[in-house]
Amino acid sequence: MSEVKLGLCGLGTVGCGTFNVLARNASEISARAGCELRVVHVGARRDNPACDTSAVRVSRDIFKVARDPEVNILLELIGGTDTALELVREAIAHGKHVVTANKALIAEYGNELLAEAEAAGVSVSFEAAVAGGIPIIKALREGLAGNRVHWLAGIINGTGNFILTEMREKGRDFSDVLAEAQELGYAEADPTFDVEGIDAAHKLVILAAIAFGMPLQFDKVFTEGITRIATQDVDYAEELGYRIKHLGIARRTDAGIELRVHPTLIPESCLLANVNGVKNAVLVEADAVGSTLYYGAGAGAEPTASAVLADVVDLARNLARVQKPTVAALGIAMKAITPQVILAIEEVETACYLRMLAEDKPGVMSEVARIFSDADISIEALIQKPPQPGQTRVPVVILTNKTREGKLMAAAAELEKLPSIAGEITRIRVESLDG
Ligand code: HSE
Repeated sequence: MSEVKLGLCGLGTVGCGTFNVLARNASEISARAGCELRVVHVGARRDNPACDTSAVRVSRDIFKVARDPEVNILLELIGGTDTALELVREAIAHGKHVVTANKALIAEYGNELLAEAEAAGVSVSFEAAVAGGIPIIKALREGLAGNRVHWLAGIINGTGNFILTEMREKGRDFSDVLAEAQELGYAEADPTFDVEGIDAAHKLVILAAIAFGMPLQFDKVFTEGITRIATQDVDYAEELGYRIKHLGIARRTDAGIELRVHPTLIPESCLLANVNGVKNAVLVEADAVGSTLYYGAGAGAEPTASAVLADVVDLARNLARVQKPTVAALGIAMKAITPQVILAIEEVETACYLRMLAEDKPGVMSEVARIFSDADISIEALIQKPPQPGQTRVPVVILTNKTREGKLMAAAAELEKLPSIAGEITRIRVESLDG
């Protein structure tokens, strides 16, 4: 094939970015692909003044692109999971390869879409679905192919990282920073996806499936958002030598696989702790290579376009050499390579930060210490602040050693029953990320 023809659906931020980068870098991209690449059909409900599609066929009905016999690769850049799912299915049924930036679609429907693609002899690629412009899917699938991955931990939602960074650096309030992230276009259409960790969970599931060679299992991810993190937690963490990051963690243990997204205290000296603003980063620990870190823009028009075009070039290379792109090459196992249990959060072992409000009177700390001692949980550090003027309660912050989550939940429930402890206890997991 000397020319590979693309159908591009969606002229939003990513669609427009892809169209423009492809036009701007056409000669380099064609040289790498070994063939010409041309957008022959755009499907979009409306035009976008940010890209000039006047020389291309444009359909308001995006399904016409999926059925267009001229199109070899369909780029699904509309987002969401309703129409996008139908569109990708239609494209597969019409023998098109698909490239998508849609993490929700892959995380929630990837297993069935890949099975359909395999049966139809086409491929569905999704580099842009995780961490924007960072080529992390290719790194796991290709660069680390000779390794056994032990664990990975990533800042994989730019909006959440922007919020936590602004809270730490400028002492700003959560809701104030979220409003700015929305204005800047970082946040999802529904920002609860960002702040409640759903967006990160979508991305984590995709990374874990490739890292551990298993099917996508979105329903098994433990997900906790950042909405309950207060500025004082950010400050206490700092006092203890940590920073709070919203991490997606996938870890292989003897008992099973951990899949979890939650705010995490990590040592301020580690590289991930210094990934700020909307940037993303993924740290991978594997047996042969050791630790590798992948850093870059996790969102935005052209960074995401960069990842979309990497998939397009991969597919086009194969098509130009008359090699059929396959689902097997994507690295997600349709069946787990070895049987793998996803661990319930109660079974996961981490150290923990706890913040509580305690009565400022003798005997309270010994009651607190007794509960930890009875639960066989060892305390690593403890900070008690003086009461604010006019207050009878004082903030108490405790850092525990590593312990099973179920044990810690039970101890926290006991603490909350003490008359000397007011309200709910804030718990944040702690990771050393040192291999
Ligand atoms: N809302 C996402 C983020 C966009 O903030 O990371 C990129 O997936």
